Amino acid sequence: MTEPGRDSGASTMVNSPANTTKVGIVGAGAMGTGIAQVAAAAGHSVLLGDATAGAVSRAQANIRSSLDKLVEKGKLDAQRRGMILSRIDFLEEPLGVDVSLYRDCSLVIEAIHEDLAAKQALFATLASVLPATAVLASNTSSLSIASIARACVHPERVIGIHFFNPAPVLPLVEIVPWLGTSPAVVDRTRTLVDSWRKTTVIAADTPGFIVNRVARPYYGEALRIHDEGIADCATIDWAMKELGGFKMGPFELMDFIGNDINFAVTRTMYESSFWEPRYKPSLTQKQLVDAGFFGRKSGRGYYRYDGSAMPAPTTDAALGGRILERVLPLLINEAAEAVLYRVASPADVDLAMMKGVNYPKGLLAWSDELGSSWAFDRLLALQAEYGEDRYRPSALLRRAAAANARLLV
Ligand SMILES: NC(=O)c1ccc[n+]([C@@H]2O[C@H](COP(=O)([O-])OP(=O)(O)OC[C@H]3O[C@@H](n4cnc5c(N)ncnc54)[C@H](O)[C@@H]3O)[C@@H](O)[C@H]2O)c1
Repeated sequence: MTEPGRDSGASTMVNSPANTTKVGIVGAGAMGTGIAQVAAAAGHSVLLGDATAGAVSRAQANIRSSLDKLVEKGKLDAQRRGMILSRIDFLEEPLGVDVSLYRDCSLVIEAIHEDLAAKQALFATLASVLPATAVLASNTSSLSIASIARACVHPERVIGIHFFNPAPVLPLVEIVPWLGTSPAVVDRTRTLVDSWRKTTVIAADTPGFIVNRVARPYYGEALRIHDEGIADCATIDWAMKELGGFKMGPFELMDFIGNDINFAVTRTMYESSFWEPRYKPSLTQKQLVDAGFFGRKSGRGYYRYDGSAMPAPTTDAALGGRILERVLPLLINEAAEAVLYRVASPADVDLAMMKGVNYPKGLLAWSDELGSSWAFDRLLALQAEYGEDRYRPSALLRRAAAANARLLV
């Protein structure tokens, strides 16, 4: 083993987090692999294990090839590549119920599959093996951190550390304390993840945290526009990119994420918010999922990925403007609701959408730029037209419009 962090700026300081924190990762799938790479690159020694035979050697091969690509691009030198790899202890033996190998880790991040009973069982065992000072973190996207923490002794050291995929590339990490996480653990965790050159935001332990919640209308309202026959997928994608400045249109993005995953997230949001109408899933998307049209990975989604030409959009600026003016107010409304219900601070809501899903601007800043009643007026009109609660404006937007006040304060 090399000395931790010799080549990492952060780790050359005496008592820096990289010198003192051994990071354990349980689950060597897509996320655990990426997180192991991030922690090792930040100078930590890392222990990576998985319950399935072969998963850790696949993870090792994936990290190797990811680092090789960085070397090829000149973003990493060969010596540093070797040091990063040597810091990771890849556990060849499949993990069983005995997780005592993790006992000298001061932080363990769980990235096993999204199953509450499995996560609770793992946390209960980890908590009984590790000292009470060790932080236990989950990378869950949709389960409540509280429900995982309640399985543990010393639940005050349990917290969510939610990375985005691919973890080595995407800068955002949502730090999610549950009701009982100790403030010291929140501070320690945030400071540590910040030292990994990630952008951290604090999110309340609520469905979808920040990003997966605030992004829902990007997909849901695009589907409504499509379902009403106002525009086709290619035209909606064109409008959101060309006129809105988004990197990917909603339909190409759903095809990229996978319609099965996107549909499951929406469904979880809808159910776990006790059927909030804003998150109602789309029957169109369900049909695609039922048919196995998952998107890029299955060769067909909203588009076909078989080499045939992509459909051309109708590049009509008036139509495009109507599309943008329907999706953007709903996104702003969702960001306002997240602030109103204290899911996160206004600054963190904006930062999360820019760093987590590459939005061209923070939604609250965007609203301030467009004027205090811009989104509010459009939502009122949609609510009157459709008679649906889905379009009700947030009280925060109503107050801002009445007082001509800014949202990003
Ligand atoms: N994939 C994403 O885009 C993404 C993004 C953010 C968060 N997440 C969350 O991260 C977690 C992992 O997701 P993923 O996409 O990496 O899953 P994955 O299916 O790629 O990997 C999960 C791994 O966990 C292993 N595993 C299952 N039970 C285990 C146990 N008890 N002990 C040890 N290993 C076990 C499996 O063998 C598998 O290798 C989930 O909670 C998911 O919701 C996923």
